[in-house]
Amino acid sequence: MSKQRAGLFIAFEGGDGAGKSTQAARLAEALESRGHTVLRTREPGGTPIGEKLRSLVLDHGHGHIDAHTEALIFAASRAAHATQVIRPALERGEIVLTDRYIDSSVAYQGAGRGLGEDAVRSLNEWATSGLQPHLTVLLDVDPAVGRRRRTAGEAAEDRLESEADDFHTRIRDAFLELARSRPESYLVLPAHHAVGELAEQILERVEILLAAHHAVPADVPVHAPSVGGHP
Ligand code: TYD
Repeated sequence: MSKQRAGLFIAFEGGDGAGKSTQAARLAEALESRGHTVLRTREPGGTPIGEKLRSLVLDHGHGHIDAHTEALIFAASRAAHATQVIRPALERGEIVLTDRYIDSSVAYQGAGRGLGEDAVRSLNEWATSGLQPHLTVLLDVDPAVGRRRRTAGEAAEDRLESEADDFHTRIRDAFLELARSRPESYLVLPAHHAVGELAEQILERVEILLAAHHAVPADVPVHAPSVGGHP
């Protein structure tokens, strides 16, 4: 019996105002109450350098940032996040929930900024050495609803959020296309449904995944495959 354990990697994706953080928090709570060790994290950010890159790329006031520079900053933050935080947690057998991952760059920089989805995906696969989520929960939000939800809060919109509605529509379409291209790796839910209902559907899918994945509470040794197909 090997002591090595493989965790489970779940990404939450969707447009701004989709309610990803709320659902990630609900899922973390439900999994922890069932004895799992959960790491909640986010992008851009998740590491000290990533949090610095986050404020560089999101805050207004650094002057114009061209699309290539923007994509590289997100990818740099993600490289640190994958290497320093996500991969080690998966190797410890934990369940990692990240608020945004590669799909956000493919949608926002690839489709939204027009850099091309394949180019942005390649950049990010290189940055993460190919580390992919086992499941992506896509909370699909109508851009107009997302904007209403955001502007109802106290916080001012960041550089990306304050882009025009057609930018957010391209992003929504790109997310849905990503999910359509690999349906087995996605759970797509309408973000306007009740919070509790969404939380139940997400937990149900994750429990099925856990059963299939042989992920177990962290103190049980199991035979485990290498994480994400990497050594
Ligand atoms: P996020 O932290 O999810 O925003 P909030 O917590 O305010 O909802 O993401 C910040 C912004 O960064 C969001 O508009 C999406 C954008 N973003 C990209 O454009 N590309 C990326 O790769 C990532 C991770 C985020």
